[in-house]
Amino acid sequence: MKKIALITSGGDAPGMNAAIRAIVKTCLHYNIVPYGIYDGYQGMMEGRGKQLNYSDVDNIIQYGGTILGSARAKEFLQVEGRQKAIHFLKENNIDGLIVIGGDGTFAGAHLLGQEMKIPIIGIPGTIDNDIYGTDYTIGFDTAINTVIGAVDKIRDTASSHHRVFFVEVMGRDAGFIALSSAVASGAESVLVPEETTDILELVNNIKNQGKHSSIVLVAEGDDAGHAIDIMNKVKPYLKEYELRISVLGHIQRGGSPSAKDRIVATRMGNFAVELLIENKTNLTVGINGDILKTCSISEAIKQHTMPDMAFLKLIEVLRTK
Ligand code: F6P
Repeated sequence: MKKIALITSGGDAPGMNAAIRAIVKTCLHYNIVPYGIYDGYQGMMEGRGKQLNYSDVDNIIQYGGTILGSARAKEFLQVEGRQKAIHFLKENNIDGLIVIGGDGTFAGAHLLGQEMKIPIIGIPGTIDNDIYGTDYTIGFDTAINTVIGAVDKIRDTASSHHRVFFVEVMGRDAGFIALSSAVASGAESVLVPEETTDILELVNNIKNQGKHSSIVLVAEGDDAGHAIDIMNKVKPYLKEYELRISVLGHIQRGGSPSAKDRIVATRMGNFAVELLIENKTNLTVGINGDILKTCSISEAIKQHTMPDMAFLKLIEVLRTK
């Protein structure tokens, strides 16, 4: 293993820079050349990258985003796109590849691994936390801390004005952010894609709380729609309440990574390089409890991961007066 390429791909996540730093420094420690490719698979197809050194990764651990840039590259799903990427990797004598991203990134890595015999390791980096084979993905902890900071502020104005707020958080396919943030912020209700939303039950929950102010956390992928749709659906039944929505959006993807994200990212980055040195391939890294572990890329993209649905019961118990 003489030269390892790395990309960040898909939605960026706080802590990606910490992972890049750990990969680069671990490579240099073992006299391996780290090669950064810009903008994920897009840059790989377009042949954009450069050899990285200590100076490229000094003082980046505290920054959100990714110094390598990221993209959602549709062309990589086509064999022609991947051929361009393979040409670039061969031309640059790349012996191993580390991809940091979510399930789309891993799906791309899986296809690439079938067409090019190059050792590949995936690192889960997405605020959504919806990757099989790991308890935590890089960025999730920072994102939920951002959400609870925002909900705390919304709570101040919600209680002053006796209003019900529908706060929409990210999570196109999964309710991890909504469920964890709901528990951590004391939200009275939470709606997630994993559970069918019953509008009348939500109405009753709001009415039975015995107060006119409350927070309903809505995952953007909920089956009943976005926060605005849900507010409009409950409105006819809650005429005596003042309702508002707040969509948190991309602030959840930015900001300085939390201690937990920095530590998880640093450990995963270091582990990924060590796996390549041991000639391991087609694996994703993960963390289970506090232990680093691996899972095959094919398994990681095939299996669906679920948040802890017991959180729903917990929220219900804590809401009841
Ligand atoms: O990174 C994952 C995610 O944050 C999803 O929760 C969200 O739906 C999506 O990215 C939005 O991504 P983009 O703004 O890149 O389209």
